[in-house]
Amino acid sequence: MRVDVVTIFPAFFDVLEVSLLGKARGAGLLDVRVHDLREYTTDRHRTVDDTPYGGGAGMVMKPEPWGAALDAIVADAASRPTFIFPSPAGELFTQATARELSVAPHLVFGCGRYEGIDERVFAYAATLGDVRLMSLGDYVLNGGEVASMAMIEAIGRLIPGVVGNPESLVEESHEDGLLEYPSYTKPAAWRGYDVPDVLLSGHHGRVADWRRDQRVARTRERRPDLLPSDPSA
Ligand code: ADE
Repeated sequence: MRVDVVTIFPAFFDVLEVSLLGKARGAGLLDVRVHDLREYTTDRHRTVDDTPYGGGAGMVMKPEPWGAALDAIVADAASRPTFIFPSPAGELFTQATARELSVAPHLVFGCGRYEGIDERVFAYAATLGDVRLMSLGDYVLNGGEVASMAMIEAIGRLIPGVVGNPESLVEESHEDGLLEYPSYTKPAAWRGYDVPDVLLSGHHGRVADWRRDQRVARTRERRPDLLPSDPSA
């Protein structure tokens, strides 16, 4: 998968060098290219923002550098990319979204700052590929960089070969609408806390039943919004 990122803070993405995704890049599974938006400005001050038409607080990112950056990216693209603009005003990014995007050949993340990007940039990007405005959740970050990093990790780990044992992806939280069961390792007793007996029983059927019950109980307690609503309630 090819991933381009457009940002005024390229250093945010240095951490993609480490850990699992760094290995995926090394193995050629993930081709990440980070672009500094200021490289696409034409004025002496490398200006990327200006005051909003109609007034109001804050600054808006100017369309010209964005247009030049997107043009440069599509110029050597093999296919029409999917553009992802992180935004608290976007659709919710979920595990299902990550799955859907993990089979895309080319993603372009556009990281907005300030009060956002001039709206015309999204219309222009839609002439070059699919455009998705995506929100991580109902809270506000300072810009799209951290949100893009989260999405790149969630998507990247679903690319075949990135996570060593694909079975570890199957039973995770959010893959089938339930939260994950609790996990324990040795020692069986630690500081007065014991591992549940059923896990020491060696009885695979009972372990599977217990884990399923735990998943349902946790989901009911912590995330009842994930469960189908009870018609008798
Ligand atoms: N940018 C600012 N806040 C955001 C959020 N909640 N999700 C995605 N991008 C954002």
